Amino acid sequence: MRNLLLLFLPILFFSSCQKDPKSLLDETPYLLSIPNGFPTPSFPEDNELTVARVTLGKRLFYDPILSVDSTISCANCHKQELAFADDQAISPGVMGRKGFRNATTLTNIAYLSYVNKDGGVPKLDLQPIVPIEDHDEMAFTILEASDLLNTIPDYRDAFLKAYDKEASPFTITRSLGAFMRTFISGNSYYDQYKQGLNNLSADALAGMNLFFSEQTNCSSCHSGFNFTDNSFRNNGLYEDYSDWGRRRVTLLMEDDGKFRVPTLRNIALTAPYMHDGSLADLEMVVQHYNNGGSNHTAKDSLIRPLNLSETEQHQLIAFLNTLTDTSFIHNPEFNQ
Ligand code: HEC
Ligand code: HEC
Repeated sequence: MRNLLLLFLPILFFSSCQKDPKSLLDETPYLLSIPNGFPTPSFPEDNELTVARVTLGKRLFYDPILSVDSTISCANCHKQELAFADDQAISPGVMGRKGFRNATTLTNIAYLSYVNKDGGVPKLDLQPIVPIEDHDEMAFTILEASDLLNTIPDYRDAFLKAYDKEASPFTITRSLGAFMRTFISGNSYYDQYKQGLNNLSADALAGMNLFFSEQTNCSSCHSGFNFTDNSFRNNGLYEDYSDWGRRRVTLLMEDDGKFRVPTLRNIALTAPYMHDGSLADLEMVVQHYNNGGSNHTAKDSLIRPLNLSETEQHQLIAFLNTLTDTSFIHNPEFNQ
């Protein structure tokens, strides 16, 4: 995949600045509403958020035209009702092909400084090339997708409206990036509780105290407004990782089995869990942490047996369940 990216970088960064008087370009800004306690995400200079860009990105996100046989769209693996994740351990791509990682939630993706679980892609606006060209996902080429889109008149107009340019690797990836940056979720039961708008159950409150305690250390890694410190850690899932994680990118032994700490927002909706979807439910996740994980030289020192009682494990899960934001998964702006 990295080779492909290098090949396309010159095309992706190419941008012309001329605007002719008959241009269809519509620069009406898209107004994001930022939840309390969230910072404003930064936008790349070449991809300010406009209504035309978000609208185009949304259309592409739901359109199987980006796959080689026009059968699979981004939304096949990133479903709104599941917080833009999937309920399969490994989601099939075109012709039933299977990759090796669990489809990631796209919740609050605007805030990530690099994408994919191993941080292998430096920018959100470059990421869409990966699924479009990956043999196990959409198996197309972005140049062929561009040609195809340019044969459809109202698609062509939509691209001109958004970027004053035709469909191209640059505009396809940028518009998908623009749409995904609107996936902001900060209205969970827990957020409402923090704002004094509702109460949490006694179990969820006890679980919240455990989550933020030094007994569990959950919030040392899953920290801040988005429940991630964006670091790469080995959380002791295996003694021997078939997926090297961060080590695939750095080739350093010390990065073996390290994955980006995932957000826990909407976590109840995104089972199965971990990079390979190997843990079926939150009970298994909490058991994993309670047992302290497998021995591995790169395992983080915070992962160790926690001695939580059955009741405490149950309370921790009750807290994780409060991180669901139902307004996010029902937001009509994200619907097809
Ligand atoms: C066949 C299933 C599948 C399809 C189709 C698919 N994805 Fe994904 N997506 C995945 C998987 C699996 C990952 C995790 C990849 C990794 O971390 O290496 C992922 C990761 C991502 C990420 C990174 C998330 C993060 O937190 O780092 C983004 C962004 C993304 N996909 C967007 C898209 C877009 C846009 C499309 C359509 C052009 C798309 N995906 C199509 C399965 C899919
Ligand atoms: C040392 C840092 C660290 C600590 C401490 C930690 N986690 Fe994690 N957590 C991670 C990493 C890294 C992953 C992703 C691992 C992977 O993809 O294989 C993860 C994954 C998860 C997932 C699955 C997310 C998904 O989308 O698949 C859940 C749920 C979770 N952690 C909850 C917790 C809870 C609850 C605690 C406290 C008992 C905790 N974590 C403590 C680093 C940590």
